[in-house]
This record gives sequence, C-alpha cells and structure tokens, in this order.
Amino acid sequence: MAAAKSNLSVRLAIRSNEVLRALREIIGRMDGFVLQEDPRASRVDILVLEVGNAPEQELETIRALMQAGVVGSLFITSTQATPEILLPALRAGAKEFFQQPINAQEVITALGQAKKLETTTHDAEAEPLQLGKIHCVLGAKGGVGSTTFAVNLATNLQAALPEKLIALVDLNRLTGEVPLFLDLETGFNWEEIGNNLNRLDEAYLKSALIRHASGIYVVPAPATLDLDGKTPANLGAHILSGMQSVFDHIIVDMEKRIDQEALHILSAAQQLYLIANLTMPCMVSVKRLTDTLREQGIQESKMRVVANRFEKKSQIDLQEAARIIGKEIDAIIPNDYRLSMMGINRGKPLAEVDSNSAAAMAYGELAESIEGVEGRQKSRRRGWGLFQRR
Ligand SMILES: Nc1ncnc2c1ncn2[C@@H]1O[C@H](COP(=O)(O)OP(=O)(O)OP(=O)(O)O)[C@@H](O)[C@H]1O
Ligand SMILES: [Mg+2]
Repeated sequence: MAAAKSNLSVRLAIRSNEVLRALREIIGRMDGFVLQEDPRASRVDILVLEVGNAPEQELETIRALMQAGVVGSLFITSTQATPEILLPALRAGAKEFFQQPINAQEVITALGQAKKLETTTHDAEAEPLQLGKIHCVLGAKGGVGSTTFAVNLATNLQAALPEKLIALVDLNRLTGEVPLFLDLETGFNWEEIGNNLNRLDEAYLKSALIRHASGIYVVPAPATLDLDGKTPANLGAHILSGMQSVFDHIIVDMEKRIDQEALHILSAAQQLYLIANLTMPCMVSVKRLTDTLREQGIQESKMRVVANRFEKKSQIDLQEAARIIGKEIDAIIPNDYRLSMMGINRGKPLAEVDSNSAAAMAYGELAESIEGVEGRQKSRRRGWGLFQRR
C-alpha cells in the first residue's frame, strides 16, 4: 500500500514475434517496469513464458528456477487455454495466464497487481501501513446464502477495484464450501500455517494462497478438526490480522457459531453483513444476533442486514422485518434459485453465469456501495482475467 521504489524487471520468453512485439510495446509504455534482455541476469522479477505443446517439461524447469529465487513471478501465455496447458501452469505457480492474441488491458492489470504485491512486500516501512478492511459475512441461520453472498461480494469487489488486492477467507471448519463455489482445488494447509505463525509475512501468505480467475485470493476453510490441540489458539484471527497488511479488502465467510475468536474478528472488522431470509425464524435470529453482538461491544453502525432471496410478495415485507429486528434492512438480493444453483454447480460467481440477472446486478451494486469504491467509475467491469476461458 506504499509507493513502489524501484522498477520490476520483466523477461519475455516468447517464441512468436507478434506476441513478443505486443508485450514489448505494452510493458515498454508502463511505468515501474523494465524489460530484462540480458540472458546473464541473475534474477528476474517477472517471467512471461509462452508455452507450447509440452508444457509439463517447460514448466518443470521454471518451477525449479522459481524455487531457487531466480524467477520471482511467472506469467504464462499460449494460443490455447486448455486444461493440459493451464493445470501444469497452475502447479508451477503461474500467477497469470494471457490467452493469445494478447489483450493489453489484461497485461496491464496483471502487472499492476504484481507491482502492488511487490510494493507491500518491500516497502512496508516506507509509510505507515494502512491496514486492509475486513468484511465479515454471517448467516442468521444455516442455509440462508452466506457463502453465496461472500463469494459474490468478493468477486464483484475485485471487478469494481481491479488494481486492489482482495481476499476471501472461509472460516467454516470442516464444512467450508468456498472452493466448491469457485471451482478451485484446495491447497492451503492450515496446520502448516499454524506451525509458521511467526513468519506470517506477505511473501509467505502470497505463496500459500490460491488465486481465482476473478483475481481474488482464497483461503479455504480448515479441513480437519483440531482434536489433539495442535492448532494455535485463534489461528483464524492471527491469519486475518497478517493478511490485513497485504490485502486491501478481506471478505470472511464466518462460521455461525460465535465464540471468543469470532468476537475478536468481528471487532476488527469494518463491516459485518448479517444474511437473512425474510422468514419469522430468521428475523428472530437476526434480532437475537444483533442484540448479542451489541452487548459484546460490536458497534451497531457496522452491521448491515441483508435480505437474501428477496421477493416482493413475501409474507414479511421490509417494513415488518425492520420492525421485528429493530433495525433497517440495508440491502436486498433478489430470489433466483435457478441462477444461484447454476453458480454453485458450475463453480462460478453469479455475474459469470448471467451478468444481466437481477441478483448478479444486486451484488455489483452492493460492491460499488462499499467505502472506497463509491465515486469511482461505476459499472466498470473487468473481465475475469486469469484462466477465465477455462
Ligand atoms: N439469491 C438467491 N436466490 C435463491 N437462492 C439462493 C440465493 N442465494 C443463495 N441461494 C441458495 O441458498 C442455498 C444456500 O446457499 P449457501 O450455501 O450460500 O448458504 P449458507 O448460508 O452458506 O449455508 P450453510 O449454512 O450451509 O453454510 C443454496 O441452495 C443457494 O443456491
Ligand atoms: Mg456456507
């Protein structure tokens, strides 16, 4: 979040003349980057590699170079975006994929993000660190749509703020579903993170998180129970606090159980979204939750009640709901079961399934109502950059 001090070096390992020319031109025009043409250079910050028909072998060498610190970040380009190319690229640690013909905006956004990550890693002391904002998503009851909400808020926020670093953290122990909603393979190891709490720095987090096509970084939920008590206490809260110095916004799909750790996280959050459906049990539950949280010192001003699966003809209308819970409903997401199931089954955010649907648009508007997004170019939608054409 501080200003960059030095240029990032970029090496282009590209066979096709046309692609090489396009990349040289785009990168040549960008501030903060230099093309590294010297083959004897001992290190390069970003390698853009064109992969052909045998990506496994090509990428194996690069992976070794990355492990040795000779290559910082790896970007891949190819004429095709098939799983045979993308999967080895992901495994080798590629951060971006540019399908050919090269789209200049995709390259500019990707390099901008790489610069930002580099800046936060190296310039932490240059300016007082502005901590990222935590947005907690908490269901008033099970099954009201909290994970759907968290996933779509995060991806829409990234689309509204393409140059910002956005993370989505799933804290639902054992029952976490965020990777399924985004068709991601989990690779994050909570036990390992627990053992490395003392080095929870930017570089480590960067290497441990999974990147989604929309640009967001994902922390899947812990997949095991800590029966032998080896996981450090408040691990989720520790990880979130470490992430705040790297990411601009962190969306957290909270577990429904409120314990001390959850209260700690909610206190640190800038915003708390309470997700509910307009049913009597849900309204009662929202009332109980808001009362309890208030008693525990969580400011009411940061609580936003969201009526999910909203239908104009529902038995409880918005006024009635506000009367029951003693608080206005701050946002509504229209009911669209078919769309939401298509999103879940295909592992895609709603905007990718049908960007013109009322529910997808509601998420877009919600993201644009967040502090820091307001007043920017509205409805400026960034295409799903990385691996979007899978
Ligand atoms: N706007 C919507 N309209 C209709 N159905 C929706 C909407 N949003 C979510 N759903 C549906 O609600 C169900 C529950 O969604 P989701 O898993 O996101 O809820 P949850 O609160 O995270 O559940 P859990 O308590 O199991 O974690 C899913 O079937 C989903 O498709
Ligand atoms: Mg859920």
